[in-house]
Amino acid sequence: MNLKQMVGIEAANYVTDGMIVGLGTGSTAFYMVEEIGRRVNEEKLSITGVTTSKRTEEHAQALGIPLKSIDDVTHVDLTIDGADEISRDFQGIKGGGAALLFEKVVATYSQKNIWIVDESKLVTNLGKFPLPVEVIPYGSRQLFRLFEEKNLHPAFRKLADGSLLLTDSSNYIIDLHLGNIEQPKKLAAWLDSLTGVVEHGLFLDIADKVIVGTAEGVKTMNV
Ligand code: A5P
Repeated sequence: MNLKQMVGIEAANYVTDGMIVGLGTGSTAFYMVEEIGRRVNEEKLSITGVTTSKRTEEHAQALGIPLKSIDDVTHVDLTIDGADEISRDFQGIKGGGAALLFEKVVATYSQKNIWIVDESKLVTNLGKFPLPVEVIPYGSRQLFRLFEEKNLHPAFRKLADGSLLLTDSSNYIIDLHLGNIEQPKKLAAWLDSLTGVVEHGLFLDIADKVIVGTAEGVKTMNV
């Protein structure tokens, strides 16, 4: 069993009957969705899933997990998702899989958030992983220029064929190659203030629990 699978299965243990569960996106969240699907089918676990991307929606549907839109639930009890980087003070970068917008919406309305990662995602400071910024196409080149002027080393995210990646909401992603983010809250507030920016991948003060897969086994950290 690989580390991502270990943490995916471990996190699924926190799901209990009757819960409304946010289902994250990515290669680690994949295993959590698989395990919840197994429990729904084999243990008759009764839950409602709220997905964070089209990809996860298709996966969960294929496994027979009952789903509802975030707009059709009263609340979300628990969301389990991956992360691209987690700092020592449990702040995160997400969006490597381009699902940051729905992920942040679901996480924001979730009473508890568990992040599942392998140990390679734990860092001292955020920023080595390029910070995704989701922008509406209209005016995106102006934002790109602004990021260049501020020395934030922007790059439009592209598909293998060179075309611009479109998110589930038909927006673009500009990745900021920052190297080190000294003041995540200040940067987040500035990005939030920009017209045309829909969302960014700084997930601050969101995680309640981090489950890490290490060579020595699973480690659970409460925030
Ligand atoms: C999706 O947009 C991301 O936020 C993912 O949760 C993140 O990229 C982690 O993905 P992996 O588990 O595939 O590394």
